[in-house]
Amino acid sequence: MKKKAPQNEKSGIGIVRVRTPGGGYPIYVGASAADVLPGELKRISKECRVLIVTDRNVAVLHIEPLLDAVRRAGMDADAFIIPSGERFKTFATWKRIIERLSEMDDKRDLVVCALGGGVVGDLAGFAAASYRRGISYVQIPTTLLACVDSSVGGKTGFDLPRGKNLVGAFYQPECVIADPALLTTLPMRELRCGMAEVIKYGFVMDAPFIGRLEKNMGGLLDLEPAAVSSAIERCCRLKARVVAQDERDTSGVRAILNFGHTFGHAMEAACGYGRYKHGEAVAVGMVLAAELSVKLGMISKRDSERLERLVETAGLPTRIRGAEPEELLPFMRRDKKTRAGKLRLVLLESAGRAVVADAPPEKTILQIIKNGME
Ligand code: GLY
Repeated sequence: MKKKAPQNEKSGIGIVRVRTPGGGYPIYVGASAADVLPGELKRISKECRVLIVTDRNVAVLHIEPLLDAVRRAGMDADAFIIPSGERFKTFATWKRIIERLSEMDDKRDLVVCALGGGVVGDLAGFAAASYRRGISYVQIPTTLLACVDSSVGGKTGFDLPRGKNLVGAFYQPECVIADPALLTTLPMRELRCGMAEVIKYGFVMDAPFIGRLEKNMGGLLDLEPAAVSSAIERCCRLKARVVAQDERDTSGVRAILNFGHTFGHAMEAACGYGRYKHGEAVAVGMVLAAELSVKLGMISKRDSERLERLVETAGLPTRIRGAEPEELLPFMRRDKKTRAGKLRLVLLESAGRAVVADAPPEKTILQIIKNGME
């Protein structure tokens, strides 16, 4: 029988532990962020000053209860609000955050709380990683994508004009608080984007989870609390397992989480950033990677159709629109998994098991892209 997640008996919160060489940290799933945060801050430091970094969209909806909760627990808390969107994941925004930290700096420990989606998490996490060579931080994700992926595993940083995430560090948070109530204000398109990453976990490493998603995608999109908490917990458990084996993304184990991303990133770039959201591009990318796996005789057509159906049920795109097939290839060649000029891709060995493999000749990839055009 599979081991169940440790539960906090009183609250029903699921606790997933991420184990890393530096120690590890808990992910509280199903928790009220306002209830859990003050206690976690006290655990981190007896006397701290807190900077909650968030973006304009999230601030309007969620900052006040958190500031109140921290202040009521007797700690000093300030908010630092950045503009919303990936185009602000820049050196300039990072600089503003660390300047604010330096203004707040006194005898007390500084702790950063990243309240938001992937952009806030990456920027605030990197500010924590770099200020005074590292101060503590907490992740409070407010998108499904951040709950199941970007808030877990310590990838932090910002983009440069030449590419995404070119500056950054692996720097683990003190804890992650995944509060499903924060997702209820999420626009449906964002929720669907997070679902692409949820589906990814099933196909990459958890066949039984695929079946559960097929049965209950409707409940998840309706944000049924039990269904959402259970899916987030499952994804966090899977991600924690991967991070424990390959914290710094060096051995190839963590690279399987890149399933769909090589096609997806190329599509985002070739179609022009803004046409597809990241999760949408990953959804199409997963379908293409599965179709390539069929072509290479690794999985059956039935398996790839299963993925495509699930992606469709989640309301995500399965085909490319807005670029010529050839335009994707130069972007694919720049993928971070490329070694000695040789492109590598995450492919499927079965529905529930991914591998990183050398890519086939470009003409095969081009054929898959052509078949994947709308
Ligand atoms: N988002 C993939 C990773 O954290 O490795």
